[in-house]
Amino acid sequence: MANTSQSLFERGMKVLVEGVSSASRGPATFGGAPRYMSHGAGARLYDVDGREYIDWMMAFGALPLGHAHPAIVEVVSREILRGSHFATALEVEVEVAEILVGMLPHVDKVRFANTGTEACMAAFRLARGHTGRRKIIKFEGHYHGWADNILLNTNPMPIAALGHPNDPIRICDSSGIPPEAQADTIVCRWNDVEALERVMALHGAQAACVVTEGVMSNMGVIPPAPGYLMRMQELCQQYGALFYLDETVTGFRLAAGGCAELYGLTPDIVTYGKALGGGLPMAMIGGRADVMAGLEWGKVLHFGTHNAGRLALHVTKVMLQTMLADDQAGFRRIKNLGKAMADEVRKVAKHSNRHKIVVQGVNSMFQIFFTDLDEVTDYRDFCGHVDRAKFRDFALRLMDKGIYMNPSATLHSLSSVVHTEADIAATGVAIAQVLEEMP
Ligand SMILES: Cc1ncc(COP(=O)(O)O)c(C=O)c1O
Repeated sequence: MANTSQSLFERGMKVLVEGVSSASRGPATFGGAPRYMSHGAGARLYDVDGREYIDWMMAFGALPLGHAHPAIVEVVSREILRGSHFATALEVEVEVAEILVGMLPHVDKVRFANTGTEACMAAFRLARGHTGRRKIIKFEGHYHGWADNILLNTNPMPIAALGHPNDPIRICDSSGIPPEAQADTIVCRWNDVEALERVMALHGAQAACVVTEGVMSNMGVIPPAPGYLMRMQELCQQYGALFYLDETVTGFRLAAGGCAELYGLTPDIVTYGKALGGGLPMAMIGGRADVMAGLEWGKVLHFGTHNAGRLALHVTKVMLQTMLADDQAGFRRIKNLGKAMADEVRKVAKHSNRHKIVVQGVNSMFQIFFTDLDEVTDYRDFCGHVDRAKFRDFALRLMDKGIYMNPSATLHSLSSVVHTEADIAATGVAIAQVLEEMP
């Protein structure tokens, strides 16, 4: 059988670093050549060798409407004829901001960016500018983009490298970052109220913000313990630190209002990306009016040639309108499909009973853990008890059967409005076969 992916990989290795443009898409994740994709339609991806896949990765969550949704194709085809980008003020920019402020009660104003990383960078600077404080409190296993100040303790590590849970060893995740860039970033264990209370007593009064993912989404899927995020919000209020909810993954995904809606939170600052752009680069910082006013000219600087790109804004508008139509039917659909898929995997795994598997999910997101635990509740559980090599083997075997899940156990699978019950059943059949085949 032709293996065009392999030959593209060999060509790509000569001209692209690791044959790809983001380290997580290459050999580090695939153990060799990744599948090179040619096109997508609905819930399907097609590779350069003509193989078809049911796509459960959906561009890391960027595609709540799936691939080449007719409404998006229509708006892109129409708007590209009127110019791709002006870097000027736009009517559609105001319209999309109005929709967002209307649907997110904790957001009075927004500022658009292109990627989650950029939005997070601006949010940290804004938090520091608004409060006049320097420290940022972040959590083990949480990822907020790849900027210098925040890229620490995001990778799974051997438990012995992590230090005491009361005082995690600070582990910088990249060469090239000067230690002083992270000197004011405090790392805390997540999902542990006592650990947070201790850290807040020590650093809360100097903290510009406490930043958290609402659901830990970069160690599979780990939901917050009941009341945990609300306690975090209270502690932020008590110490005068901003409560910063990074909804880059969870926003416009787990509910129309993301984790803020799901867990009844009123964050001071939020960032969104991925799903927001419906497949085009779009991200935003949002928050309370007095906090967001910090981005005014002469205060905290935030620039960007490609901010509020008009094509991306038109797609964002269509994505939001489509998901919100019929009393948020789109959000209900991805939630029901995600839950049904997670249940299907549980059912198949129980029936097979050959491997110990835990499936964790929140609405449209789920992840399959090969673990000896009954529940993965935090980063340390993940590091010590999740078999990542086994998951990769599982995902690569599934690919051979036409099911695309990212081979990294740190990521997760996601439903879109165009997945169907038949896709869930077909995925279940493939998973059952793979579980039988796997050693
Ligand atoms: C919670 C969170 N914040 C920020 C980012 C960065 O977003 P981007 O990859 O668009 O820069 C990510 C990316 O995975 C993320 O998961």
